[in-house]
Amino acid sequence: MNELAVQLNAALEDSCAYPFLSEVGKRMYFPKGIVAQSDEAKEKAKRYNATVGLATRSGEPFYLSDIYSSFKDGVFKPSQLFSYAPGGGDKELRAIWKAQMEEKNPSLKGKKTSTPIVTGGLTHTISLIAELFVSAGDEVVCPDLFWDNYDLIFSDLAGARLRLFRFYDGNGHFNTEGMREALLACKGNTARIILNFPNNPTGYTPSRSEALAIVDAIKSVADTGKKVMVISDDAYFGLFFEDETEKESLFSFLADAHDNVFAVKGDAATKEEMVWGFRIGFITYASRSFTDAHIDALTKKTLGAIRCTVSNCDRPGQSLLLKAMKDGSSYARDKAGLFEEMKRRYDAVHKAVSRHAGDKVLTPYPFNSGYFMAFDTNGHDAEELRRYLLDRYQIGAINIMGRTLRLAYCSVELGGLDEVVDTVYQAAGELWN
Ligand SMILES: Cc1ncc(COP(=O)(O)O)c(C=O)c1O
Repeated sequence: MNELAVQLNAALEDSCAYPFLSEVGKRMYFPKGIVAQSDEAKEKAKRYNATVGLATRSGEPFYLSDIYSSFKDGVFKPSQLFSYAPGGGDKELRAIWKAQMEEKNPSLKGKKTSTPIVTGGLTHTISLIAELFVSAGDEVVCPDLFWDNYDLIFSDLAGARLRLFRFYDGNGHFNTEGMREALLACKGNTARIILNFPNNPTGYTPSRSEALAIVDAIKSVADTGKKVMVISDDAYFGLFFEDETEKESLFSFLADAHDNVFAVKGDAATKEEMVWGFRIGFITYASRSFTDAHIDALTKKTLGAIRCTVSNCDRPGQSLLLKAMKDGSSYARDKAGLFEEMKRRYDAVHKAVSRHAGDKVLTPYPFNSGYFMAFDTNGHDAEELRRYLLDRYQIGAINIMGRTLRLAYCSVELGGLDEVVDTVYQAAGELWN
């Protein structure tokens, strides 16, 4: 094993993160190779800097003028678009993301977290987590209504197994007790869980009291001596449409919940900043028991995992995002505009669904946030309904595991939502009544 990895492992050995490290995670380190040496040269090589494989003239990269001329004159220097981004991402963007995270999650105030590291989107964040902290044969606890990519990442990429529990309890609330039992049932001294609110596919976020109950349940598992890694997938953070819904990430409460709780936040500019194609995500770590040395070692292992896969993440996207977040004159207005439109669509879908209350074939799952709502098809084949909607009515929806039909109301204009919902009920009736 590389000496640097040995040192990072020694730094982490007494932390609650150590028992989660996979074999890859244990071997990972950030090399003192080209990246580290050229960073050093940036500071000191005042005469000639012959370190990086990036063609420059007059201190700026070469570029295709057909690309550069697509940007407004004088807004970005060529280096802000064409050069490599630093391994962990643009430093200023990372700092702004952290400051905004603390603003949007006031409970984080005064709690020690790592500085968010830029990834190539939230999928990449979750995949990095799998690479570093999940081994073949491990279990990852997850509610039984989940984003299908978790299965591909944790089961097929990492060779682990999803341990599922029912998402809702009998009263249409999050099944906290089922979650606690699943965590306790994980073999050995560790348990891993991924939670995603606002949820894809259900559109559900716990209320404040439910969120606190979830945190208490996780703490009670940690009290037994088990180390618990909790991944908060905050892809749709901020789209909370009801008063009683918890508006902070679970990460804010888990960051200092217990010495045995290892909290990982995955979030992204993707949906929060409406830049789906830019591929900018983040990963942030916290635990009540973490020292600066633990955080530093986790950061270096993560930088290593990025270095050996994509090396570094998209530069123009980071520059564009940073500029908008720092001094965009329409930034707040555009974000508020998206929220208001999603809230209007959410209200419209709720109204449309409530007109079908008591329907015998489709039952909408409780929803209060995000981009989606979904129907329980009550034992009927959701794939059959999906195909029928597409072929007979030219309406696209998603079949989730054969028993749930998901509607992404975020992508249907307000004026079409009544028709979409009514047609889904009508189609289900035609098939199954
Ligand atoms: C729950 C959830 N997590 C993660 C992602 C991935 O986001 P990104 O596009 O940033 O990779 C998605 C995207 O659909 C999602 O629904």
